Amino acid sequence: MSANDSRGPEGRQNTATYDSPFMKACRREAVPHTPVWFMRQAGRSLPEYRKVREGTAMLESCMRPDLVTEITLQPVRRHNVDAAIYFSDIVVPLKAIGIDLDIKPGVGPVVENPIRSRADLAQLRDLTPDDVHYVTEAMGMLTAELGSTPLIGFAGAPFTLASYLVEGGPSRNHEHTKALMYGDPQLWADLLDRLAEITAAFLKVQIEAGASAVQLFDSWVGALAPADYRRSVMPASAKVFDAVASYGVPRIHFGVGTGELLGLMGEAGADVVGADWRVPLDEAARRVGPGKAIQGNLDPAVLFSTREAVEQKTDEVLAAASGLEGHIFNLGHGVLPTTDPEALTRLVEYVHTRTAV
Ligand code: CP3
Repeated sequence: MSANDSRGPEGRQNTATYDSPFMKACRREAVPHTPVWFMRQAGRSLPEYRKVREGTAMLESCMRPDLVTEITLQPVRRHNVDAAIYFSDIVVPLKAIGIDLDIKPGVGPVVENPIRSRADLAQLRDLTPDDVHYVTEAMGMLTAELGSTPLIGFAGAPFTLASYLVEGGPSRNHEHTKALMYGDPQLWADLLDRLAEITAAFLKVQIEAGASAVQLFDSWVGALAPADYRRSVMPASAKVFDAVASYGVPRIHFGVGTGELLGLMGEAGADVVGADWRVPLDEAARRVGPGKAIQGNLDPAVLFSTREAVEQKTDEVLAAASGLEGHIFNLGHGVLPTTDPEALTRLVEYVHTRTAV
C-alpha cells in the first residue's frame, strides 16, 4: 500500500501517519513514547521564523504556500516534535470570505465592522474550497515533506470567532459578546450556527488536503459558566464536530481556563480534550469522562525557570497522566513569544526519554 492510499469511511485518512505515536495516542492505543507537540510551536519564539517573516504581514504570510510550508516545518526540524501544526490563524477563513479584518502585531485580530445586528450577519457568506486554495496547496506540499509525521489542521471554534467578530478585537471581559448572547439569544444562535458552517467547511478542506487530525480552538470560552456554555455554545461546537466525524480523523478540542467546562467540551464531540495547567490531568480525565484522550498541560511560563524546575514540573504532568489511556504532551496554552527555543527542544527530548517503553 502506498503512502497515499486511503482508508476510512470517506477515504481521506492519511495512512502514512496512521501508526505514528501521535495518532496512536489520539486513538488511546499503546505508544513507544508519549507524543509531544506545542500549541504555537510555529512562530515568534524561533529566530528562523522571524527571519522568513521579515517584511511580510501575518495574514499575507498565511496565504503564501511556500512561507506556510517553511514555517510549519521549522519547529519539526528543530524540536523533533511528534506532530506539525499548520501555520495559519483562526481568522484566516473569515478573511477568506471577505470580512474586513487584520492581525495587528502585538495586538491580535482586529475587525473593522463588528457584527452586532441581524443585518451584520450578511457579512458571513459560505466558505468554498476556492476561497482557501492556498491552504490546499500548502497542505499538499507539507504532507509530502512530513511523511510519517502528522499534520494537525485547525480552526477557531464558533464562540471564540464570535468574540473577535462581536468585540471588534481582543477583549478581556467579552462584554459586547455576552451582551448579545444574553440580550438576543436568537441572533446569537444564528451567528454561532453560521460560524459553525464556515468552520466545518474550513476543516473539511484541511482534512481533504491531508491533515491527519484537527484541533478546534475555543481559546476564550473559559469566560462562560457551564450552563451558558451548554445552552449558547455547545450546539454550534457539536455541529462542527459532527460535520467532520465521518472522516475518522481525531478531533481535538481546547480552551483556556476551561476546568469547569471539560465534561461539556468532551460531550460536544471531540476525541481528544486539551486542558490548561490549572487542572491536573488525572482530574481533567475524570471530568472529561471515559473514551477520550487527554492533551496537555505544562504551564508555558515554567519554561522560563531553571532546567531542574522544568523537569520537576514535567514529571508532575507525566505522573498525573501515567494512568491515562491516551496522553498527548503539550503546554497548557501556546508557546510564549520570548521562550528560549532550546528549552522547548530539551523538553521534547526529556518527555520522550522519560516515557520510552
Ligand atoms: O504554531 C501554531 O500553533 C500555528 C499557528 C497559529 C497562529 N495562531 C499563528 C499566529 C495558531 C494555531 C493560531 C491560533 C490562534 N490565533 C488562536 C487560538 C490559539 C490560542 O493561542 O489560544 C487565537 C486566539 C488566535 C488569535 C490571535 N492571532 C492572537 C491572540 C494573536 C497574537 C497577537 C500578538 O501578536 O500577541 C494572533 C497573531 C498570530 N497568530 C501570530 C502568530 C505566529 C503573531 C503574529 C506575528 O508573528 O506577526
